[in-house]
Amino acid sequence: MKIKVGVIFGGESVEHEVSIISAIQAMNKMDEEKYEVIPIYITKDREWYTGDMLKDIDVYQDLDLIKRYGDNVVLYYKNGTYVLQKKSGLFKRTVKEIDIAFPVVHGTNVEDGVLQGYLQTIGIPFVGPNVYGAVAGQDKTIMKDIWKNAGLPMTEYVWFYDVDYRQNPEDTLKKVKSLKYPVIVKPATTGSSVGISVCDDDETLKEGIDEALQYDTKIVVEEVVQNLKEVNIAVMGNYEHQKVSEIEEVLSGNKFLTYTDKYIGGGKSKTKGGVKVKGKSKGMASTNRKLPADIDKKTRETVENVAVRAFKALGSAGNSRIDFLIDEKTNKVYINEINSIPGSLAFYLWEAKDQDFTKVLDEMINIGIKDYKKRMSKTHSFESNILAGFASNGGTKGMKGAKGKLR
Ligand SMILES: Nc1ncnc2c1ncn2[C@@H]1O[C@H](COP(=O)(O)OP(=O)(O)O)[C@@H](O)[C@H]1O
Ligand SMILES: [Mg+2]
Repeated sequence: MKIKVGVIFGGESVEHEVSIISAIQAMNKMDEEKYEVIPIYITKDREWYTGDMLKDIDVYQDLDLIKRYGDNVVLYYKNGTYVLQKKSGLFKRTVKEIDIAFPVVHGTNVEDGVLQGYLQTIGIPFVGPNVYGAVAGQDKTIMKDIWKNAGLPMTEYVWFYDVDYRQNPEDTLKKVKSLKYPVIVKPATTGSSVGISVCDDDETLKEGIDEALQYDTKIVVEEVVQNLKEVNIAVMGNYEHQKVSEIEEVLSGNKFLTYTDKYIGGGKSKTKGGVKVKGKSKGMASTNRKLPADIDKKTRETVENVAVRAFKALGSAGNSRIDFLIDEKTNKVYINEINSIPGSLAFYLWEAKDQDFTKVLDEMINIGIKDYKKRMSKTHSFESNILAGFASNGGTKGMKGAKGKLR
């Protein structure tokens, strides 16, 4: 019997379109002998659809088509299995059963632990990081604080809440000015270079903070790495085992890698963000790159070593991409960020190490199954008579009783 894999993609994220591309790339490469691939598309307005038509990129040009011919479903636990069930219709029929969910989602509301939380709540096995790994992999403040604590090489940074800045701008700015200009200001959770700016002085710093505040309540400011070379590496595994891919060098014609550089390719661009992916984009696989990166042996070893430690420190799982900034003059390596579910699932980084995409997907699913079994082997509940005490006393009296027992 084939394993039924529900590939979940889309969602309410600025990287919605990129996720569609990543998911279609992945669905086309899954081993059909082993897996039955079931597409599960979440629209920007949070409706879930399934149907074989969703394996074809062209249908996404016309959402009405999907609404008319796709099945609008919910994923939930029913009689010991996980099912996609129609939301409307006389019999609310089950459309498909799913054995394991495979999120191929990017960005906030999906990659950041939100989707993983839902999957874990209903109890379905799934591929990729669990809730904790996913949260730490999206919020740059959490990510950086964990990595700093793990002693990984990073640029100097500070972070603050919008409320602190509004209530006490002087103190916040003082904290930020402990860094050396130029600095780069980032919203903590958006991704895709949205809301990011490089600031050279007090004036532009304030503008940069205002820009970032449009996207997030938490803001990160860090020192800019000079003579910048950007390299990325993928790490696959979980907290027990990890392996690394080839290293790529990503090229940009801009001050920093923009949304357009990342997903549309073609080098120079003035676009800052919010661009829709159109035409023949191949998602993250479109980026201008050198593969393998042009770096010496020692730098390569540093990148590999730091990447594995970073992956482990966050408790990530599956197949993530970890991005580095290198100062080419001093050869110093700084870790920048993790992408827990990277664009195009970073298949090109594995292919460059002679591992085809089909094998990568297979390994990811195997890790998901192993992690699920591990989760199931731990104790998650224990017998307690608190509720029994509550029921016999009844009403608010019971509440007092229960409280007493808790103390
Ligand atoms: N400290 C830094 N110094 C120089 N460039 C940076 C620095 N941080 C980020 N960048 C540039 O900005 C881009 C986007 O920043 P990043 O932290 O990766 O955010 P996102 O999550 O939006 O991808 C990077 O790919 C890089 O080009
Ligand atoms: Mg990035």
